[in-house]
Formats: sequence, structure tokens, C-alpha cells
Amino acid sequence: MNALRTSKRADALGTENAFVVLAEVNRLIAEGRDIVSFCIGQPDFPTPIHVQDAAIAAVRGGKHGYTPSAGIDPLRAAAAESMGSLRGLSITADEVVIGAGAKPFIGYTIASVTDYGAGDEVIFPVPGFPIYESQVIANGAVPVGLPLSESRGFAFDPAELAARITARTRLLILNTPHNPTGGLLSRSDLEAIASVLREHPQVWIYADEIYSRLVYEGAFASIAAIAGMRERTIISDGASKTYAMTGWRIGFVANKLLAPVFTRWITNTESCASQISQWAALAALTGSQRDSELMKQRFHQRRDLIVRLLNEVPGFRCAAPGGAFYVWPNVTEACEIVGAADSEELRLRLLQQAGVAVLSDIHFGPRVEKDGQHIRFSYAASDAAIEEGVRRITAFMQKARR
Ligand SMILES: Cc1ncc(COP(=O)(O)O)c(C=O)c1O
Repeated sequence: MNALRTSKRADALGTENAFVVLAEVNRLIAEGRDIVSFCIGQPDFPTPIHVQDAAIAAVRGGKHGYTPSAGIDPLRAAAAESMGSLRGLSITADEVVIGAGAKPFIGYTIASVTDYGAGDEVIFPVPGFPIYESQVIANGAVPVGLPLSESRGFAFDPAELAARITARTRLLILNTPHNPTGGLLSRSDLEAIASVLREHPQVWIYADEIYSRLVYEGAFASIAAIAGMRERTIISDGASKTYAMTGWRIGFVANKLLAPVFTRWITNTESCASQISQWAALAALTGSQRDSELMKQRFHQRRDLIVRLLNEVPGFRCAAPGGAFYVWPNVTEACEIVGAADSEELRLRLLQQAGVAVLSDIHFGPRVEKDGQHIRFSYAASDAAIEEGVRRITAFMQKARR
């Protein structure tokens, strides 16, 4: 018998199923299958040219070494200004830490405010970004899902939040605009959440606001701007979605108390984010915003297109979400029409029989009771792909119905 073993932590570590499905889709494409994919959560636009140029200038300018773990000073200052101006807050550079994407800060935060095996609880949205739960479990904390409901525009009921908070709750994760539903937390939702949290001063808030600049209805609102919430809120944002820079790996967080802790985490892990990417992100934040604004306009148009088309598909019911680049149609009736046991079977049949790749609700946590079946489309895809993908789904539904 092999004496080598992996830890309970390693065994319990989950994953982001989008990456698993993506590998499956890429395999089918490599086999020559024609697949229209709506799986991937990243802009399909190139990084703006002036940002690419800044990276090339950094390489040519000898900016090849490590940077301070918290990031280069001008980028910390620019991220502070960018995050502060959007939220109506005054944020200083020393509150900000730059990381290799926003994602690592999810784990750093959980590890920084909960103790392993102590019964500390973390509340997060369900459906939600799968990394929340996997990091809670890997860090030996207790996951507590908070259901979002379709009838509330994919927000949660503050009474349900209140019912889940205990003396052991250490952290609440909020995500607006939301992956996978595209839903937003309105200012009044945030006020209601804040009034619940005022009773529980021990609870930190991780405000995952990576889609903050992709809002199509009304204004973006952050919990950090609600009275009394600023000190306990870790604001998380980044370059990935706003500037089509997912592969450059630049994210930033702001929190005065935890900034030195995050800096130590980074010293203990990646040392610093790529220096080249940091200079590129500085150009993204301080240079022309035109490309980013055009990209947002395109996403808005695509949202309207995909929502309209999906609502014409038999058995699909699709709300128009306020932000990000996802739609989350209810496919309960579609499953019944084609005799699929659930959304996951429908997803597999769409992939195999219609050549359309989507994710299903179970990739984002357990299904919300009484809310039915859903699948996720990322509309970071061209108009032609949206039209062709929905045409294939309609043809599949008509054929399977007969
Ligand atoms: C909700 C949410 N948070 C965080 C991230 C991570 O973004 P980054 O590329 O900055 O690590 C993503 C990316 O898909 C996301 O959807």
C-alpha cells in the first residue's frame, strides 16, 4: 500500500465547474464537433491597444523584477481612485492591495477571518460563484448557503440572512452584479442587509464587485457605501471583466484593517502580481475608458438580444438581468417538454444533440427550493453566435417535443 496520502483539505477542495465543462467543450471541438459555447465568463474582446502598449513598454523598459507584495504605488493609488469614485467613497492607496486577479482574495479573506475547524461560519449566495464554497470548506470553516430567489430578481430575502446569522458567523459574501444570474443588489436591498448586520458587529463582508462596471439598469451600489459598513467590508474589484484582461491576472481589494494581512498572504504565496500586468492595469485605469465603455454598450445590446431570443424558445423563461454578462433562464418547462429529468440532463443534451454549450444550475450550488431548473448563458459571445446558438436550441426543442 502506498504510504503517501493527501490531506483532508486537498481531498475536500472543490473546483469551478466552468473550467471542467470548458475542457469537455474544447475536447469536442478538437474532435471536429461544431459547438456554439456560452460557457466562459470572460469578455470576448481584445484588451485595449493602449493597455497592450503599456505592457510592451514595461517589458522594454526593464520592468522585469518583483514589486512590493501589495503592488506598485501608482497602481494602488489608481485602483483606490477608481474604486472610490464609483462607490462615492474616499479610498486611500494604503488600503488597497493588488493581486493576481480578484479570485485569490476570496481564499485570503476566508483564511484571514475564520479559524480552521473552529466552527466559524461563512454565509454566501446560492446559486453563486463555486469558489466561495470550495474555499470555505478547504479553510475548515462551515459553509452556509443563502438562497437567491427568482421572484426577488435574484436577490435574497434579508429575513433569510437574519435567520442564518449566529454567534459563529464570521463572514458574509455578497456578489453584485451577480454570477451566475446577472442580478443586482439594489441600494434598498443593501440598506436592509446593513440593518441586519448592525446587530452582528463581528461579521465581515466580502463585497465581490468584479462586475461593478457592467451595470445596465440603474446605478451600481456597494454595501461599503452604506452607513457603518465601510470598516468591515472588503471591496473586491479588478481589471479582468472591465478591461477584457482576464489572462493578465490583476485584481484589487480595499480594506484598511486587512490590507497588511493580504500583503502578508501575497508575500507567502505569489510574492506579487506580474509587474508587466500591473503597468498595463495602470494604463487601463488611468487611460482612455472608451474601449471599456464600448464593450459595455455591446454587452448591453447582446443582453437585450439573448433575452428576447431565449424568451421565444418553447419552455424557456428568461428575465432581463441588470448586470454582468450572464442570463439565467428558467428551463423547468423546457425540461418537461423534452423529458429531461433536470437542467443538467438538458445541458448535456444541448451539448450532445444541439451543439450548444451552457452551464447548469448545479454548477453553482444546490438548486434553490421551489425555484425550478435553470441554465447559465454567458453572452460574452458575438451576435452571430447568440443567434445561431438560440436557433439550434429552438430546433432541438421542436424536434425533441415531436
Ligand atoms: C463572481 C466572481 N468573482 C471573482 C471572479 C474572479 O475574477 P478574476 O479574474 O479577477 O480573478 C470571477 C470570475 O469569473 C467571478 O465571476
